[in-house]
Amino acid sequence: MNEVKVAMLGFGGIAKSHKHAYEQLEAAGEPIRLVAICDVDETRFTSGTATNLGVEKAANLEGIHTYTDVDEMLRNEEIDMVDICIPSYLHKEYAVKMMKAGKDVLSEKPMALTSADCEEMLQTARACGRRLMIGQCLRFEPSYLYLKQCIDGGCFGRLKNLFMERLSVHPMWGFEKWYTKTEKSGGCILDLHVHDIDMARFLLGEPDAVSTVSYDDITRWQVVNTRLFYKDVTVIATASWDEAPTVPFSASFRARFEQASVVLGHEGLTVYPNQGTPYHPDIPRANRMAEEIRKLASMVRDREQINESNPPESACQTVRLIERLRESADQGGKRIEIHA
Ligand SMILES: NC(=O)c1ccc[n+]([C@@H]2O[C@H](COP(=O)([O-])OP(=O)(O)OC[C@H]3O[C@@H](n4cnc5c(N)ncnc54)[C@H](O)[C@@H]3O)[C@@H](O)[C@H]2O)c1
Repeated sequence: MNEVKVAMLGFGGIAKSHKHAYEQLEAAGEPIRLVAICDVDETRFTSGTATNLGVEKAANLEGIHTYTDVDEMLRNEEIDMVDICIPSYLHKEYAVKMMKAGKDVLSEKPMALTSADCEEMLQTARACGRRLMIGQCLRFEPSYLYLKQCIDGGCFGRLKNLFMERLSVHPMWGFEKWYTKTEKSGGCILDLHVHDIDMARFLLGEPDAVSTVSYDDITRWQVVNTRLFYKDVTVIATASWDEAPTVPFSASFRARFEQASVVLGHEGLTVYPNQGTPYHPDIPRANRMAEEIRKLASMVRDREQINESNPPESACQTVRLIERLRESADQGGKRIEIHA
């Protein structure tokens, strides 16, 4: 296979970021090409799109075939990989359909609305011999990879505690306002909190116990605060879908090590050593979406099956853990043992 040919399914907010990533990869000479896009709403091909980062102008789709019918796209296009950017309640149905059609699949986070649906996706990937990757894009984000290096390498001593936060206005945008319906988005706990819960597992493995408190309003689990208890460290993570409309989207962490604090905030990534001057560590300037796409495309090209950095089994486990967080939240923050 000379180049990996990709089709995107859904052309709303996140799809625009994926398209930039394909442009970057193609410009860098990566053997990958976005050949087609399917969206049930044809106005998506000519209009701008709202996201938590503002409104993005209409995309340039020169050279890309557009469809509103996925079966027609499958009949007409020779594609190796499908990049699924449709609302979360449709992930399982379309990932399964694409894998059964013989395509490798990148599907956005959260993997699906329930762990049972995630299991069905895993089983289909195994049965069809397809590669499946979930867009847990923080696993490709340089600042989080730096944090992982600090934890694994012990350069600042032992990690003592970790705080993570992700704040957004309530997402009133999107296809048929799907974010505002708990049964379609899973609420902030599944849609937004999933990033930090998955990251905690990526950094530290499975917690011994969890506890979550939540505030419900337009959706259930709309503002959540979770504690993940590990043997030597506690992770505290907050996610909100209820900020004032004037609050910009933000994502941050504060990791306290024995010899330094490592902080991701408004000023980027900063190391505050116990002694000496704070500094910005030298990290690669990579686009996390491009890196996750590059990873799956290289697996497709090289017919590789093992994805150590972001296996779909792990994304499934993250959804399963979020089900436990909900259980805790629904009992007023009760501590739930994970290995019990
Ligand atoms: N990785 C991230 O950081 C990140 C950020 C934002 C969103 N997401 C995820 O990406 C997914 C999409 O979110 P979004 O904000 O782009 O949503 P969106 O509503 O803006 O876009 C979804 C698009 O899918 C189209 N669509 C709906 N049903 C379809 C179907 N059956 N076939 C083809 N197209 C269909 C809609 O017309 C719409 O254009 C969600 O799962 C969301 O959680 C991930």
